[in-house]
Amino acid sequence: MAMVCLSDFEAYAKKYLPKIAWDFFAAGADDCSTRDENILAYKRINFRPRMLRDVSMMDIRTKLLGTEISFPVGIAPTGFHQLAWPDGEKSTARAAKAMNICYIASTYSTCTLEEISAAAPGGLRWFQLYIHRNRVVSQHLVQQAEALGFQGLVLTADLPYTGKRRDDVRNGFRLPPHMKLKNLEGAFEVCKMSLLDPSVTWNDIYWLRSLTHLPIIIKGILTKEDAELAVRHGVQGIIVSNHGGRQLDGGPATIDALVEVVEAVQGRVEVYVDGGIRKGSDVLKALALGAKCVFIGRPALWGLAYKGEEGLQEVLRILQDEFRLSMALAGCASVSEIGRHLVQFSKL
Ligand code: FNR
Repeated sequence: MAMVCLSDFEAYAKKYLPKIAWDFFAAGADDCSTRDENILAYKRINFRPRMLRDVSMMDIRTKLLGTEISFPVGIAPTGFHQLAWPDGEKSTARAAKAMNICYIASTYSTCTLEEISAAAPGGLRWFQLYIHRNRVVSQHLVQQAEALGFQGLVLTADLPYTGKRRDDVRNGFRLPPHMKLKNLEGAFEVCKMSLLDPSVTWNDIYWLRSLTHLPIIIKGILTKEDAELAVRHGVQGIIVSNHGGRQLDGGPATIDALVEVVEAVQGRVEVYVDGGIRKGSDVLKALALGAKCVFIGRPALWGLAYKGEEGLQEVLRILQDEFRLSMALAGCASVSEIGRHLVQFSKL
């Protein structure tokens, strides 16, 4: 089977993964409007391409909080990678390092942070935190991530409770007994998601600040009000995200929310976006609207399901080639030439 675009990996994963795992990866909340809207919203944005601009030499590199990456795509935090491939997050870490991009490892990884670090020493990695009621557990994870060389702390803000994902409820989804949330072993059992702390507020950013020197990036922001609060509370980055449409159904597509957040932030901190990115031209649209980098969630899982580390690298290479081509066809030879002038919103 020739893998030409990211949808080919989606079709493969749907065909070959056990139904319960596919359903978990694919799930959106309620009737999945926001999940689907994330993708549809990209189609409502059109390019204003420029011609005759010498695109013989392309430079698609950029920087993420000062660290160079090979192109502006990273891997969003997703849980349970062993559901896709036996080596789980170790394969993800290796693929990200091989491609010289950033991998955000989830609190809900099926490998320990040590295993992830050892699998790809020196790779650019951030650690994503869900704050648990037992703050000692969260504190330990943050400090462990810093000690292991993770370079950023991503606080996920949009999950005081887990959204209602109907297929997971129908399937009675839970991890198979041989897989563990390795970073939380002993802290709680998988089914007790309620141990997430729903009382988290903006003040907890100060608590996190007291625990670590790592830059703090807040994930799950969708409004200018919260973007302003994030900047005021001293974060270094914002990921505009609706958790891939898995939390509050009926919220905005992330590419639409990005515009409002970028306008509010005015360059004071870096802004990133995830949700619905399936093509290189989507990456270009997000950058044109002010994102410094984008992150992919489900497509990384499809790559893993296809062929582990190799499959994920293939997904990333396709996205990279498509991004380079879209840039060239739009008349940009380097990432610094990408700007708001490049896109318009369709009137339909
Ligand atoms: C997620 N997401 C997520 N986010 C997070 O902060 N911590 C996590 O553990 C997870 N786990 C997770 C599992 C699965 C199966 C999915 C699909 C998503 C959300 C993720 O980081 C990201 O916001 C979305 O996946 C982006 O949307 P796309 O790229 O999947 O459309």
